Amino acid sequence: MKPSEIAELVRVRRPTGSWQDRRLARCVTVDDLRASAQRRLPRAVFDYVEGGADDELTIARNREAYDAIALMPRVLRNVDHVDTSTTVLGQRLPVPFLLGPAGVARFVHPASGEPALAGAAAAAGIPYVLPTMATTSIEDLVAQVPSANLWFNLLIWRDRGLVKELLQRARAAGYRALVVTVDVPVSGFRPREVRAGVTMPPSLRLSTVAEGALHPGWWYHFLRKEALRYPNVSQNRATPLTAVERVNGNFDPTVTWNDIRWVREVWEGPLVIKGILSAEDARLAASAGASGVVVSNHGGRQIDHLPASIDMLPEVVQAVGGDLEVFLDSGIRKGSDIVKALALGAKACFVVRPYFYALATGGQAGVTRMIDLLTAELVRTFKLIGATSVGDLDESYVRHLPGPFPAAAPRAIGER
Ligand SMILES: Cc1cc2nc3c(=O)[nH]c(=O)nc-3n(C[C@H](O)[C@H](O)[C@H](O)COP(=O)(O)O)c2cc1C
Repeated sequence: MKPSEIAELVRVRRPTGSWQDRRLARCVTVDDLRASAQRRLPRAVFDYVEGGADDELTIARNREAYDAIALMPRVLRNVDHVDTSTTVLGQRLPVPFLLGPAGVARFVHPASGEPALAGAAAAAGIPYVLPTMATTSIEDLVAQVPSANLWFNLLIWRDRGLVKELLQRARAAGYRALVVTVDVPVSGFRPREVRAGVTMPPSLRLSTVAEGALHPGWWYHFLRKEALRYPNVSQNRATPLTAVERVNGNFDPTVTWNDIRWVREVWEGPLVIKGILSAEDARLAASAGASGVVVSNHGGRQIDHLPASIDMLPEVVQAVGGDLEVFLDSGIRKGSDIVKALALGAKACFVVRPYFYALATGGQAGVTRMIDLLTAELVRTFKLIGATSVGDLDESYVRHLPGPFPAAAPRAIGER
């Protein structure tokens, strides 16, 4: 990317286009997109995206951990040209991040959902990981976005026949890698969702009608478009999983590493295990035949009181970095977060909540804006720390600082 292009990405342009263009142009960080999403979404939807388990300590820790890592710049290194590309599971990507899995995208943007995420990712040359609990089917997504680079995210349900069917469908539809989530033996408890009365499919009550008046953009599309469904788990099934209660009842607490070995036999392509926080589990993933692991605390949505995933990254890299590709998620909001993760040995990062903020703010154009902002921050950070390629980054570019940390500056438009 040329410096002039980066400048263009982050400039707050004079508003010239549609309302949506103007709104997006005003967002120059992921925090801006978040503030905008909060204004535009009904409370139940925003809390679905934002909510974490119990007291949400893990969510706070995820951010504090990045703040506690300082960048250690080098100077006078000729950073005119920067190459942020990297190879992930045999694919060359222009940037070391991709769009990770998150269920029910049409809840956040009823008019678009997963095709907007896959489309924006495809335009940027990066993968999008379709979750089992998507509102677009495995096959429809390929039909709607033929250029997409798709991975599939599997939850191992009680019904292993359904699991096998999902794997076969993803393989037949050309999904390039499988990400198996292993930190959901049961659903986490997210008080915000309970308080806000999140139901799936959403139910119409007096409070929802009042919310509709306050967020007409979301409601307009929600009422016009077809009802939310989970087509991956309801298609051709005698007992389709349509409501969140039935989905939660299908999480399987009996899953073990033997099931991963079984998945390994059924799925021939690259296999990534998501939800690893220890060297011990990373080694078990390697011996079960995985190609990679995602060091993740599920964005603080499953159990509270977990360590930040970036803090667990070095020990996982030390244990299996020579054998497996180690990815990271949970708390990535800036290009500099990605640089810190790479310096500590991550191959690439999964970005999730930021794309929901962006989707709510501007549909597919919003997601493209988010990817552009992260890319611009990434390139700028490389230049300002004196690195010209992903291969340059190592531990010497970061240093853990003792707290306490200064209070962050105002975060976003609307919070000033
Ligand atoms: C609304 C929402 C739904 C999610 N659904 C899934 C899912 O279906 N499968 C999964 O493996 N992870 C899911 N996740 C977790 C993300 O993949 C990821 O681990 C987490 O969001 C990372 O934290 P961050 O978004 O705060 O960076 C979900 C996250 C959110 C916010």
